[in-house]
Amino acid sequence: MNPLNHVAIIMDGNGRWGLKYKNSRNAGHKVGLKTVEKIIKETIRQKINFLTLYAFSTENWKRPKKEINYLFNLLESFLIKRIDQLHAQNIKIKIIGIKNFSKKLNNLLINAEKKTFKNKTLQINLALNYGSKKELINAIKKLNKNKKKINEININKYLQTNGIPDPEILIRTGNTNRLSNFLLWQLAYTEIFFEKKLWPDFTEDDFKKIIKKFKIIKRNFGNI
Ligand code: FPP
Repeated sequence: MNPLNHVAIIMDGNGRWGLKYKNSRNAGHKVGLKTVEKIIKETIRQKINFLTLYAFSTENWKRPKKEINYLFNLLESFLIKRIDQLHAQNIKIKIIGIKNFSKKLNNLLINAEKKTFKNKTLQINLALNYGSKKELINAIKKLNKNKKKINEININKYLQTNGIPDPEILIRTGNTNRLSNFLLWQLAYTEIFFEKKLWPDFTEDDFKKIIKKFKIIKRNFGNI
């Protein structure tokens, strides 16, 4: 059975779900947040140590301002309401991406990271204003500036995922088969599961089925 330490998720399909059932993309994001909460609980039950969630990409700034504001308000109220509970569950929050949001959201994110820094049960990496190409360019620039050798160990050290094992599983919901500039370096040997369901419809059982399939995959890492 394959060990499982880290699951990464591209939570795609909120907008389509919202339009289909509530005539509003934003309504889909609201229900999508409920799925986030369900999957966090299941990740703890499965004793998985790291969960990385793609919540907002560097490309998502192209969306209408109304939708962007809605998403950030949702995140703000989630942090305000849930941070104590997450902390009590021994969950560590880490942001990957560049924190250049409103002062209020930046502070909420920094405080969430500070408060939960020592927690050990589960680390949630929230990818916010994250883009993998930008992350790699920044890492290489820093290596250059510090006159470090360009090799795999040093690149890993200068990525925002420094110290986090690469994901064994990537799930993308929403019936779209692409990586959308997410963890391009870190996914080199990850098992990828493309799921037809839209994120708000994704359930704990769907998650458990994927884990079950993953556990028995023969992983070669280039060997035979
Ligand atoms: C992709 O669906 C989803 C997002 C860009 C936002 C993800 C946000 C959530 C799941 C809720 C908030 C999360 C947190 C952690 C507060 P899409 O809008 O691209 O869907 P579409 O492909 O149907 O348009």
